[in-house]
Amino acid sequence: MSVGARYEAMLADGELRPDLFQKEIVAQLDSLQAQLEEPPPRGSILWRLAGKKPEAPRGIYMWGDVGRGKSMLMDLFYDSVDIARKQRRHFHEFMLDVHAHIRRARETDPGDPIPTVAANFARDARLLCFDEMVINNMADAAIMSRLFASLMEQGVTVVTTSNRHPDDLYKDGLNRQLFLPFIDLVKERLDIRALNGPTDYRRDRLGNAETWLHPNGEAATKALSETFFRLTDYPPSDGDHVPSVGLDVGAGRSMTVPKALKGVAVFSFKRLCAEARGASDYLAIARRFHTVIIVGIPVLGPQSRNEAARFVTLIDALYEYKVKLLVSADAQPDGLYPEGDGKFEFERTVSRLMEMQSEEYLALGHGSEEAAE
Ligand SMILES: Nc1ncnc2c1ncn2[C@@H]1O[C@H](COP(=O)(O)OP(=O)(O)O)[C@@H](O)[C@H]1O
Ligand SMILES: [Mg+2]
Repeated sequence: MSVGARYEAMLADGELRPDLFQKEIVAQLDSLQAQLEEPPPRGSILWRLAGKKPEAPRGIYMWGDVGRGKSMLMDLFYDSVDIARKQRRHFHEFMLDVHAHIRRARETDPGDPIPTVAANFARDARLLCFDEMVINNMADAAIMSRLFASLMEQGVTVVTTSNRHPDDLYKDGLNRQLFLPFIDLVKERLDIRALNGPTDYRRDRLGNAETWLHPNGEAATKALSETFFRLTDYPPSDGDHVPSVGLDVGAGRSMTVPKALKGVAVFSFKRLCAEARGASDYLAIARRFHTVIIVGIPVLGPQSRNEAARFVTLIDALYEYKVKLLVSADAQPDGLYPEGDGKFEFERTVSRLMEMQSEEYLALGHGSEEAAE
C-alpha cells in the first residue's frame, strides 16, 4: 500500500491529527515510493553492459524540531516501500559500522577503502533510510562527502531525518571545511524539506504524566507502562511482546536493552547500575533513545556507592543528550542517596534530576549540542 494511503487511513482512524506540513511531505514520499517500486527501465541490461547504472531516484532530507513526526513518517515510508533491497539504520550505528568496514578493508587493501565499502552497502540496499542524522565527530565528518557520493553513484537513494538544516550540520565542528562538500552534496542530490509545524506531538503524548513516580510499586509501574504505550502507540494488550534489542556500545561490545520501541527504552535500575557498566554504555543509550524509563530505583545506602557513582555517570549522559527520563523510585531525587562516598557529587545529579522534570527540559530536542569532539 502506498505511504499516502496508509497516512490517510491513520488520519481517518483518528490515530493522527491533520497536519499540513506532514501532508506535503507525505505526497513527496508517495512519489518517491512509486519511483522506487517501478520495474527497472527497459534496456537496463545494456546499461549494465556499458558499466553505467541508471541514476537512483532523488532522496529526501526531512528536518525539523523534535516531535514533529519525522521518525513516524520515515517509518511509515520505509515499511510501505515494497522492494527487497532496503535498509533502515540509526545514523550513529551506521557510521560505527562504516568505520569498522573501513578498518577491515585497510587490512587487506592499501588503496582507498571508501568506494569498496560503499559498494558493499549498495549491494544490500538501494534504499537507505537514516533516522536522526547528526555529525559530531571529525572521523565521521571527514568521510561523509566521499562516502555518500560513492553510495549515490552506486545507485543508492538516501532518505534521512535530522533535527537540523543541512547548513547547520557539524556546526562549529573541528576542520569543518572537510565536511562542507557533504552539505553541497545533500543540496544537490536530496530534496530538503522542513517538517516544522507548531505541534510537538511527543510532548503532547506525554501529557501531564508525572516523570518521577514514587514509591516503587504497582501504581508507579502501571502509570509508567501507560506512558510507554502512549509514547510508542503500542497496544497494551500486546504489552508482553515489546521486543528487546541489542545496542552497539563501541569497542565491539553490545548490550541488551530489555524493552525498546520507537526510540523509547525501558530498563531496571539493577541492569543499568548494579552491573559493571560505564560511560560508554550510558552514552550509547543516550544517543540511541530519546526517552528512557528506569524502574525500581531504590534508596541507596552507604554500601551502594558503586551504584550511586554509576547512576551519576548515567544521568550525566542522559542529560547531555537531552533524553527524557521517566522513573519509578523509592524516594524523590534528594532522598535517593542520603549518605555515603560521593554524596557531594551526587548533589549535582539531584539538581539535574530536578531540571529534567521541568517543562523547559522536556520540550528540548534529543541530541547533544556540542558539535566537535
Ligand atoms: N499528525 C500527528 N498526530 C498525532 N500524533 C502524531 C502525529 N505525527 C506524529 N505523531 C506522534 O508524535 C510522536 C512523535 O513523533 P516522531 O515521529 O517520533 O517525532 P520526531 O521524529 O520528529 O521527533 C510519535 O508518537 C508520533 O506517532
Ligand atoms: Mg525522531
